Amino acid sequence: MSDSTTNDTGPTTAPPAWWTAATVYQIYPRSFADSNGDGVGDLGGIRQRLGHLHDLGVDVIWLSPIYRSPQADNGYDISDYDDVDPLFGTLDEFDALLDEVHALGMKLVMDLVVNHTSDEHPWFVEARSSRDAPKRDWYLWRDPLPSGEGSDAAGTPGAGTYPTAWRSAFSGPAWTLDERTGQYYLHMFASKQPDLNWENPDLRRAVFDMMNRWLDRGVDGFRMDVINHIAKEPSSLAPGASHFVMGGQIHDHLREMHREVFAHRTDRELITVGEMPGVTVDDARLFTAADRHELDMVFQFEHVGLDHGPASKFDNLPFDLVALKRSLSHWQDGLADQGWNSLYLGNHDQPRSVSRFGDDDRYRFESATLLATVLHLHRGTPYVYQGDEIGMTNAGFASIEQYRDIESVNWFDESVAAGADPESLLESLRFRSRDNARTPVPWSGGAAAGFSTGTPWIEGVANHDTVNVEADRAAGDRSVFEHYRRLIALRHESPVVALGSFELLAPDDERLYAFTRTLGDEQLLVLANWSGEPYELDPALHPALRRRSVPQVAIGNVPSGAGLTLAPWAVRGLQSVPAPPRCANRDSGGAARRSGRKMSGAPRSSCRVRPAARGAGGRVRHAARGRAPDASTRRTVG
Ligand code: GLC
Repeated sequence: MSDSTTNDTGPTTAPPAWWTAATVYQIYPRSFADSNGDGVGDLGGIRQRLGHLHDLGVDVIWLSPIYRSPQADNGYDISDYDDVDPLFGTLDEFDALLDEVHALGMKLVMDLVVNHTSDEHPWFVEARSSRDAPKRDWYLWRDPLPSGEGSDAAGTPGAGTYPTAWRSAFSGPAWTLDERTGQYYLHMFASKQPDLNWENPDLRRAVFDMMNRWLDRGVDGFRMDVINHIAKEPSSLAPGASHFVMGGQIHDHLREMHREVFAHRTDRELITVGEMPGVTVDDARLFTAADRHELDMVFQFEHVGLDHGPASKFDNLPFDLVALKRSLSHWQDGLADQGWNSLYLGNHDQPRSVSRFGDDDRYRFESATLLATVLHLHRGTPYVYQGDEIGMTNAGFASIEQYRDIESVNWFDESVAAGADPESLLESLRFRSRDNARTPVPWSGGAAAGFSTGTPWIEGVANHDTVNVEADRAAGDRSVFEHYRRLIALRHESPVVALGSFELLAPDDERLYAFTRTLGDEQLLVLANWSGEPYELDPALHPALRRRSVPQVAIGNVPSGAGLTLAPWAVRGLQSVPAPPRCANRDSGGAARRSGRKMSGAPRSSCRVRPAARGAGGRVRHAARGRAPDASTRRTVG
């Protein structure tokens, strides 16, 4: 984390926070690599494959949950926050992994799931034992309403005894009656995931103590699961998301967490990212403003909700490039002068990005690399989801028996029970199911794709004979991995990539994704043909296209077409040749602000940034000046 303040008088002299130049790689452990042949990925498998991540050049590894868990939601239902599930290994193996990650110059971030626990967590076991149990108040309990005054199980108000009409994200009501004590408990996810009551100070203390134990163990931060759901308002459990998303106390809780967990760790380079469904740009500005001491960045959901229809996330709408550009650039602009963006197109909850946004058939290499390029050249910290670095595609499952995900299976069962046509449900799942991202990483084309010597817990993608790590890394200039490696290195080396301001070009063009990044005298122009047809660039788009000597190609995925033509799914990042240093201590950004000219993002300093320097562990530290979150006055807590 970094705790300094940016202010209106211009850029600070402190270096920008380290994560402005970093890339994070997400591992979903059960699908990454299996070392013991039980068909489930594990810590041993991760240790065997660290070289792959080191070669890729990522700075941080985020591990989806490895804690003890009944695995109702693949580990997002935790029964012991202080131990590793035997499915994945032991604490000793975890320590060895952490040492190895650090020795390779990378960091390791844990998933922090504290909106809810498993119903098998000792806290909940005690809480449900009686109404007077000391930990009863660590969860959210309500009496059944008189018959007909509450909601029914389908969410119809006035038809049952449920305290509210809230629905679980995994189908069914968000309340389950505990027969023994005669009260309902709240679970926004599965009934095996009871929600914690963050109003209770003892619960908060227990969570902060647990986080401190993991940081003392050496981990480098947390990805915080649905962290904007923690502040519910137990006194008014009326219908509506406003009562459980971004509740009134959310900022207080995060600031308290910062004070109790992060503030004193001034000697460490840590990172925090909060997963926040429904977060707005205005909220995110508050959550990530450096001087508010809450979070470094958030995962927002706007751009991954654009193709959801009104009925549910399984109501699939066609992809709309103009809407995607509008959304992402809104976030770029909104967090230009305060806060910071995370950048992602995929994770363990989303379909594979190349299948969703690209062409995973005819132009798989081209579109996978185009998507990566567009994303990584935005301003923010990019997240790579395992397998995206080789262009993995959706699972292509044909029958419900192939699915494992609780969300997909519950939705299918509930919809069939309500009379829906199973074939159309399967078609929706083929596009949207979270299992699309959870198939085993194919390390080779051999048996079980080199993932396991046993039978994988979930089937692999049928194309693993051609789409696998070995084949991709041997594919020369058609290697998706190699393209990701270059993008990650470019962010390390190029301050304009890490810190430059963002400006969208041609917002209404339905096939072209074009933007510039600008820092001082340097500019990067990104041109992406988001279609399977050649695209003729309009010279009026940008002055560089009118000049005879165009800037140098910083990155591209296919050989440039002739002149101003972009081949199908071609992307180019063109970097202007920087002017010589004119470091006269002038701040043209400040001048622009004073004269009322519009600034977006980093101030246009006339002083060229110095080249990036290698920091501890071989990763890169920029010495750039810019209006970015910095690390100057760390952890001065208000
Ligand atoms: C988050 C996780 C998801 C999980 C849910 C409940 O959205 O990313 O995988 O099912 O929270 O913990």
